[in-house]
Amino acid sequence: MDFIQFERNEAAAREIEHHYGRAPRLFLHSYGCQQNVNDGEKIRGVLQDIGFVSCSSPEDADLVVFNTCAIREHAEDRVFGNIGALKPIKEQNPGLMIAVCGCMTQQETIVEKFRKSYPYVDIVLGTNAIDEFPQKILEKLGRKKRILTSPVERTDIVEGMPVARGCTFRAWLPIMYGCDNFCSYCIVPYVRGRERSRRSADILAEFKSLIDQGYKDITLLGQNVNSYGKGLDEGLDFSDLLAMLDKVEGDYRIRFMTSHPKDATHKLIDTIAASHHICHHLHLPVQSGSDEVLRRMNRNYTAEKYLDLIRYAKEKIPDLTFSSDIIVGFPDETEEQFEQTLELVRTVRYAQLFTFIYSKRTGTRAAEMPDHVTHKEKTDRMARLLAVQDEITQEIYSAYAGKCVRVLVEGPGREDGVMTGRLDNNMVVEFPCTDASLTGMFELVDVLDAKGAVLKGNLV
Ligand code: 5AD
Ligand code: SF4
Repeated sequence: MDFIQFERNEAAAREIEHHYGRAPRLFLHSYGCQQNVNDGEKIRGVLQDIGFVSCSSPEDADLVVFNTCAIREHAEDRVFGNIGALKPIKEQNPGLMIAVCGCMTQQETIVEKFRKSYPYVDIVLGTNAIDEFPQKILEKLGRKKRILTSPVERTDIVEGMPVARGCTFRAWLPIMYGCDNFCSYCIVPYVRGRERSRRSADILAEFKSLIDQGYKDITLLGQNVNSYGKGLDEGLDFSDLLAMLDKVEGDYRIRFMTSHPKDATHKLIDTIAASHHICHHLHLPVQSGSDEVLRRMNRNYTAEKYLDLIRYAKEKIPDLTFSSDIIVGFPDETEEQFEQTLELVRTVRYAQLFTFIYSKRTGTRAAEMPDHVTHKEKTDRMARLLAVQDEITQEIYSAYAGKCVRVLVEGPGREDGVMTGRLDNNMVVEFPCTDASLTGMFELVDVLDAKGAVLKGNLV
């Protein structure tokens, strides 16, 4: 695999200065997962690098960038809706440049749709082409024609891209890109390409620089962090990488996501247990509690194997909290199979659950599977799952009443006079406070009670 060092596009910077005669304004919106949010930070970084400044509405912008998500149909519909809303803005301001990138644009059918039905979209660019953004803008300014790039798979890694981070105390740190798992429902392996791991020295350097800048909460990102290192010849697995980062001195927390259960090991749990900085929280998406559904999802584990790991983790780290993703209504999921999911949820007792109704993604294997489950059945099952989880959430959170917890203060809460903080185990606590200067600091909070998935307490 090739590693490329990012270089500033001097020609684009000069042309932008010449064309606008001032700093042009960028409105950027990222949809979807943390990977995409981090991609958005890089897009902002490379565009700032050639002279753009940020603005907060498309009406004020010279360039609008939508960094899109393709995980479910609903996500794509939202993007199309939001792009449609740009049409009148572009009519008012014909100089406005509109660019669409991210996972949606890695699908040829979608690029075709932009070509035919969205003539006011100027640039279409894939997920893997962030470093090419300045060049595309330069070309667009020069030749006026639309630049619609067909999806290309990228097999290299670009290091050293500027990152305009959205937060001063929480940061995303990708350790790998792409996914090789081909879960039968999932579009990600098609739009993000094959798994590629960053070199550990590059990760460590970025990690240290984040700590030096005062970041307190760093989340390592990958579609399946547990297969980190494949193809690198460094002889390091994900647990080794975690142990290496954990040695860096400082008062900070390490998180990571996402772990695929098929590759999560006892070694990983032992590494968390032995560490100083790794949070006691494991996001381990199970998707379903039925072995038959798991087989058809191509997940490569059984419910029993999953529960074995959970049991081991609970034994080793008693205060570990778990979270998970679950898909309801996978093609032809039976009532019995759904009940096995409910059973598993009751056994694990997740602190938090992310639940999704199955969404058909063209090109995936599940899209070819017959599906006789009605939409009504799917939404009913979803409601039943949420009801089971709500009860568990309430019990887990209520058990924190009376405890004193250490939190990283994240900023103002939903109500006036209230701020929020995050526990090591990812739970969130709200407490009365108006001192914004505490944001990004570790503080102690006495927990009084819980309301849904939020603890309530007072600063010590
Ligand atoms: N339909 C519904 N949910 C999906 N996910 C991925 N693909 C689909 C789909 N086609 C969910 C999975 C995954 C999470 C990020 O999104 O639960 O873990
Ligand atoms: Fe999709 Fe499965 Fe890869 Fe996750 S591991 S991104 S669910 S294919």
